[in-house]
Amino acid sequence: MDIFVIQGGSPLSGTVRTAGAKNSVLPILAASLLTEQPLALENVPDLSDVRTMLRILEMLGARVEHTGPNALEICTQPSAQPVAPWELVRKMRASFEVFGPLLGRRGRAEVSYPGGCSIGVRPVDAHIRGFEALGATIRTQEGYVVAEAPPGGLPGGEAYLATSSGSSVGATRNVMMAAALARGRSVLTCAACEPEVVDLANCLNAMGAKIHGAGAPTIEVEGVEALHGARHRVIPDRIEAGTFVVAGAITGGRVRVEGCRPEHLTALLDALYRSGVGIERGPDWIETQPRDLAERLRPTDITTQPYPGFPTDLQAQWMVLMALADGVSVITERIFPDRYMHLAELLRLGARIRRQETAAVVEGVRTLSGASIMASDLRASAALVLAGLVSKGQTQVHRVYHIDRGYERIEERLSQLGATIRRESVPGESQPA
Ligand code: EPZ
Repeated sequence: MDIFVIQGGSPLSGTVRTAGAKNSVLPILAASLLTEQPLALENVPDLSDVRTMLRILEMLGARVEHTGPNALEICTQPSAQPVAPWELVRKMRASFEVFGPLLGRRGRAEVSYPGGCSIGVRPVDAHIRGFEALGATIRTQEGYVVAEAPPGGLPGGEAYLATSSGSSVGATRNVMMAAALARGRSVLTCAACEPEVVDLANCLNAMGAKIHGAGAPTIEVEGVEALHGARHRVIPDRIEAGTFVVAGAITGGRVRVEGCRPEHLTALLDALYRSGVGIERGPDWIETQPRDLAERLRPTDITTQPYPGFPTDLQAQWMVLMALADGVSVITERIFPDRYMHLAELLRLGARIRRQETAAVVEGVRTLSGASIMASDLRASAALVLAGLVSKGQTQVHRVYHIDRGYERIEERLSQLGATIRRESVPGESQPA
C-alpha cells in the first residue's frame, strides 16, 4: 500500500489548476443511464471514485470511450439487469445515485444499501421517501433497496428532502434524476442548493429534461418522454480548490489556484479573511498572499452547514489551519457529527484539540512536529497532508488510497508548488479489497 513521505517547513508557491468536481461528475455519470444516446463529458477528474462509478455503469450496460485527457463518452443500453451490487456500492456511497436513473428510465431499481463510512452512518431514508413521493413502491430485501414504478412509469409528486442535518445533496440529485422521466410534474422541496446539484440539473436540461429552480430550496421538474445525448463540461472542484488555498495559507506561501469558481467558496474566503490570511481573487482564480509564519493567524470559529455555509468537506482542512492559530477556535460539525477521525492523528503531531460532542476546541500551538499518521476518509486525509507540509521534520501519511479517491495526483501537484512530498509503496500493508 502507498504512503506519502513529507518533509515539512517550506512555504508553497506557484500556480495549480483545479480539476473537475468529483461530487459533480459522479452523479452526472449516473445520469447517462437516463438515455440510450451518448453523453460526452469534459473536465472529468482522473480519480479512483470515477473509475469505480464507471465499473458500476458498465455492469449496468454502459459502454465507455475515453476521448481525450479528462474527457470521455458514455452510452448505456438498458440491456443489463438494473442491479448495482454490494461489492461495488460498498466502496463508494455515491454509487447509490444510480438508483434514481434506473428507476426513472427502466421502471425498476435494485441497489445495495450503501454501508456507512468513517464519517458517519450515512442513511438513505430521504432518498427512499423521495422515490415513494414520486409514486414508486419500495422494499428492502437482503441488504438491497428495491423499487418498482407503476406500469407506464412514475406519476411524479412532491418530495420533501430534509434530513436531521438539513437538506440531502444525494437525495436531491437522486430524486431529481428519477423525476426527469416521470409522467407528470414533480416538486422537490427543501432541496440541497450545492453547486453540484446545479451542475447536474444543467446537464440533465442539456439532455432534454425540464428542470427549474436548481440551486434554490424548491426545484420543479416537468417529466418528459425521453432524454437524448448531450455534451457537458463538469464544474471545477470547489473542495479541491479550497484545499489548495488552505495549503497556501498554512505554509505562508503565494499559491494561485486557477480554473476555480471563487463564488463557490465564499464561506471559506470569509473565514480566511477573519483569520487574517491575505487573499486576492479574480473571476476564476484565488491567490494566497505570503505570510511570515511567526505572525500567527487569528483564531476563527466555523460551523459546517449546507451550501452556501462552510462546507463539511473543508472542516478538517480548517482544523489544521487553526491548530497553529494564536488562540482558541471552536469548530462545530453540523452535517456529519462524527467527522473527527483526523483529530486523533493531529494530536500525534502535537496539536492541542479536544472534542466536545459535535464540536472540536482547537488551542493553537506554535509548531507541529512530524510523525507517522493514518488517513481515514478522503477529506481528513488531505488535511493530514497539509499538516505534514507545515510540521517540523518528516511526516508519513499512511493509507493514501483515501486521498486518491478525490484528489488527482495530489503529491505531484503539491511538489510543483515546492512541497517536499513523495509517494512510497510499503509492502505488507493491505490495500482495500
Ligand atoms: C454529499 O454526500 C457529498 N458526496 C459529500 O462529500 C458531502 O460531504 C455531503 O454531500 C454534504 O455536503 C457526494 O456528493 C458524492 P447528504 P451525501 O445526503 O449526498 C444525512 C466527500 O468527501 N442524511 O447531503 O451522502 C447524512 O447522514 C464527500 O467528497 C440522512 O439522514 O450527503 C448527513 O448527516 C463526503 N438521510 C446529512 O444528511 C439521507 O437519506 C447530509 O448528507 C441522506 C442523508
